[in-house]
Amino acid sequence: MKLGWIGIGRMGLAMAERLAKGGADVIVWNRTRAKAEPLAAHGATIAGSLAELAACDIVFCMVSTWDDVREVIAGPKGLISGGGKLPRMIVECSSISLEGSAELRALLNERGVELLAAPVSGNAKVIKAGRLSFVCSGPRAAFDAALPYLKMIAPAASYVGEGELARIVKICHNVFLGVVTQSLAEVTVLAQKAGVPRHAFLEFMNQSVMGSTFSRYKTPAFVNLDFRVTFTPTLLRKDLDLGLDAARRNDVPMPLASITRDLVQTLIGRGMTEEDFAKLLVLQAEASGLKLEPENVPVSDGLGS
Ligand SMILES: NC(=O)c1ccc[n+]([C@@H]2O[C@H](COP(=O)([O-])OP(=O)(O)OC[C@H]3O[C@@H](n4cnc5c(N)ncnc54)[C@H](OP(=O)(O)O)[C@@H]3O)[C@@H](O)[C@H]2O)c1
Repeated sequence: MKLGWIGIGRMGLAMAERLAKGGADVIVWNRTRAKAEPLAAHGATIAGSLAELAACDIVFCMVSTWDDVREVIAGPKGLISGGGKLPRMIVECSSISLEGSAELRALLNERGVELLAAPVSGNAKVIKAGRLSFVCSGPRAAFDAALPYLKMIAPAASYVGEGELARIVKICHNVFLGVVTQSLAEVTVLAQKAGVPRHAFLEFMNQSVMGSTFSRYKTPAFVNLDFRVTFTPTLLRKDLDLGLDAARRNDVPMPLASITRDLVQTLIGRGMTEEDFAKLLVLQAEASGLKLEPENVPVSDGLGS
């Protein structure tokens, strides 16, 4: 099949790279073209306009918010706005709301295009390590048709049902991500103030029943204060807001998510928008009267890098 890819940001670059390196016939478009150009070395074609992707069989989309998805798919210069041939299917991977996803499905179905909602768990390093996972919903036949390509990008692709169900799974996942990160920051700072170096504390935690893929791959950031961005506080705030919005609609109290959302807002308000959300650790240390220094101890991220 001929594949298209919209959005070569941190995630889109690493995902599309796996398709191109795997030998797929893929044409990619990014608003900032320069970010897509490295993919040409792996055999991808770089498109100058979204219209060039309209003749593909499957088009993947990985941008930021629902407004951005709507713009690239159905905006004035969007994928389906040209009036010519249209793809069979869009595989939409951005983390967006159920309502946005339902609106997208309606827009696409009117034009005879299927939608597979396919958000993901994992950052760009996780993708490179071959550990990404998709959660998918929409027509089962669309999932089956896309599966060989999903598997080129990620070893795990779960089908959870019709419609927009994958979106709520991803929203719940990222609410948990925010809350767990804040909690890990709190206990790491507490242990350090009581005298335990961060690397020693996290080495134990990572090997305990509470350790996880996530706690392991955040360990280098927490120990050596490497806050090069994997996921921005702004995108995490979006997901916490999506979670709180869904919670209100479903009459579910989410006290921990509410507090975490405001702590992430504090990172943003303090200008830490182009640093990793793991800076929640620094915020927690400051609130505890502790000035953090890198420990400069080599620690594994558990991803083989
Ligand atoms: N990073 C993670 O760990 C992670 C993990 C799972 C899911 N996600 C989700 O994946 C999505 C992408 O995240 P990311 O970290 O890759 O973000 P990112 O690095 O900020 O990339 C965003 C991408 O969207 C494009 N974009 C944004 N608005 C656009 C618009 N109006 N028109 C056209 N293109 C637009 C950007 O184009 P330009 O290059 O021109 O700016 C860029 O290609 C988000 O929904 C995020 O919540 C992220």
